[in-house]
Amino acid sequence: MARLRVGVLISGRGSNLQALIDACADPAFPAEIRLVISNVPGAPGLARAERAGIRTDIIDHKQFPDRESFDAALDLALDGAGIELVCLAGFMRLLTDGFVERWRDRMINIHPSLLPAFKGVKVHERVLAAGVRFTGCTVHFVRPAMDEGPIIVQSVVAVLPGDYAARLAERVLAEEHKIYPLALRLIAEGRVRVTDERAEISDTVGPVPAALSNPTG
Ligand code: GRF
Repeated sequence: MARLRVGVLISGRGSNLQALIDACADPAFPAEIRLVISNVPGAPGLARAERAGIRTDIIDHKQFPDRESFDAALDLALDGAGIELVCLAGFMRLLTDGFVERWRDRMINIHPSLLPAFKGVKVHERVLAAGVRFTGCTVHFVRPAMDEGPIIVQSVVAVLPGDYAARLAERVLAEEHKIYPLALRLIAEGRVRVTDERAEISDTVGPVPAALSNPTG
């Protein structure tokens, strides 16, 4: 079976990228990472890709006059590599609506909270300040509004007495590393359909949605 061609966008550490690399290392996994793009030169995640023999590209947003031209460069690189699905993994740039729409239902993101709660940054600090007993992480399809879009997989993490942001972040991250490869597998197996802005997961492996079957590359 042809493996789904994935591009991963990063800005930093790349531990979620590593989880995806590790999953794709299994030849039976239905997706493969064809390209890793960083908007930050020297992002530690780039070395992870290089170690795994994956092509990397640096598209430094500082070299572009505006968001549109930066996003056009991303598009060109992704298309050039025949990418069918984009995974945002700690990618710290807001994308233009045009780019997001072009990759509608073909771009996913991971966020360290149980969306729709705690969108944005400084998530764990705000979780602790709010006194909620449970938090977690979410993989979702990307929509123009930040941290919005149909939810594919979530995992719950209990907030423990005495928790501080770094400790909580560590436990949430361990779950992120499980659910990102899981969500990717479900999509690559053709088990995820978006209907009325909700992602439905079927029990049976099906054909990959037309939006994801790009004949090129
Ligand atoms: C993760 O917590 C992810 O949920 C968020 O950014 C962080 C990226 O971490 N979007 P890493 O670069 O994958 O280690």
